Amino acid sequence: MRRVVARAYGGPEVLAVVDAEPVGPARGEVVIEVRAIGVNPIDYKLYSGAFGADPVALPMRLGSEATGVVAEVGDSATGPRGPIAVGDEVIAYPLSEAYADRLVVSGDSVVPKPASLPWNEAAGLLAVGATAVDTLDTANVGTGDLLLVHGAAGGVGSFVVQLARARGATVIGTARPGNHDYVRSLGATPVSYGDGLSDRIRVLAPDGVDAVIDTAGSDEAIDVSVGLVRDRSRLVTTVPGPRAGEAGFRIVGALGPESMEPRKQARAALVDLAGSGDVRVRVARTYALSEAARAHADLRKPHAAGKFILLP
Ligand SMILES: NC(=O)c1ccc[n+]([C@@H]2O[C@H](COP(=O)([O-])OP(=O)(O)OC[C@H]3O[C@@H](n4cnc5c(N)ncnc54)[C@H](OP(=O)(O)O)[C@@H]3O)[C@@H](O)[C@H]2O)c1
Repeated sequence: MRRVVARAYGGPEVLAVVDAEPVGPARGEVVIEVRAIGVNPIDYKLYSGAFGADPVALPMRLGSEATGVVAEVGDSATGPRGPIAVGDEVIAYPLSEAYADRLVVSGDSVVPKPASLPWNEAAGLLAVGATAVDTLDTANVGTGDLLLVHGAAGGVGSFVVQLARARGATVIGTARPGNHDYVRSLGATPVSYGDGLSDRIRVLAPDGVDAVIDTAGSDEAIDVSVGLVRDRSRLVTTVPGPRAGEAGFRIVGALGPESMEPRKQARAALVDLAGSGDVRVRVARTYALSEAARAHADLRKPHAAGKFILLP
């Protein structure tokens, strides 16, 4: 089997494809033949040194989500939605080692993939979808709210918009002009970020907004939000940083396992919504697994809206 690891801390050049000896499933585990892998910014942040650099963690395995076919089932392995059998088409999330062509994972991390959902879209669904649910719950977004989303065309932002609309909220979403049609198609009113952002939003929201979900993490997004939100307890961001903390933003997602519990709970509803076409995953680009470094280099720059997917 092949997997991608970070051999050192640094930029995408530290990634390498390595061969590994396949092992069977232990009790409670299943083996998955991987069809597609979702790429997320956290994947490169983890080996960038942004969260510290621990040499013991090297070589570091990467990747929080993948899809594939169950090839082996260990004793007593069951998923959160019931029994798992060889041949099942599944989505595995949350993981920490998804960049591989074969995975041995806990049955608890595996949910059935709807037959109607293509592999690539399924691979990009749960990390951003569950994060979006987490932000919406934290900001307590519901019917009648006017919500501002920074980065509305992004992986997380596009799900925040779709799910907020489904909750009955009205959404204003920031994006670069080339993404405005896409943001509109998701159900939000698009606004360009950059100089004059606050004034442009005020035209649409003269009395300010009820809540803000920031997925951009820029100083502008933070400062503009503080001036627009009516209740500062409803400022939420996915991007940790001192400025957001000082401004009173609630930061979703820590790296601890307990913070994953609400996200695990969110999986079933997200899979059902994606299976029925009520939420959409946009795939921007696909890369071979061996091109993970190029995918990370591209994801770090301004890029086409949608998920990046690795194919084993
Ligand atoms: N805390 C958590 O649990 C958690 C979970 C998932 C993600 N995250 C973090 O959330 C962030 C977004 O992740 P993602 O997967 O959605 O990334 P993504 O798909 O690359 O989207 C990033 C978005 O940011 C927008 N953007 C860039 N510069 C901006 C600016 N100055 N003002 C407003 N928007 C700007 C881009 O918009 P345009 O393309 O329109 O320019 C793009 O849509 C990342 O930092 C990621 O690490 C955190």
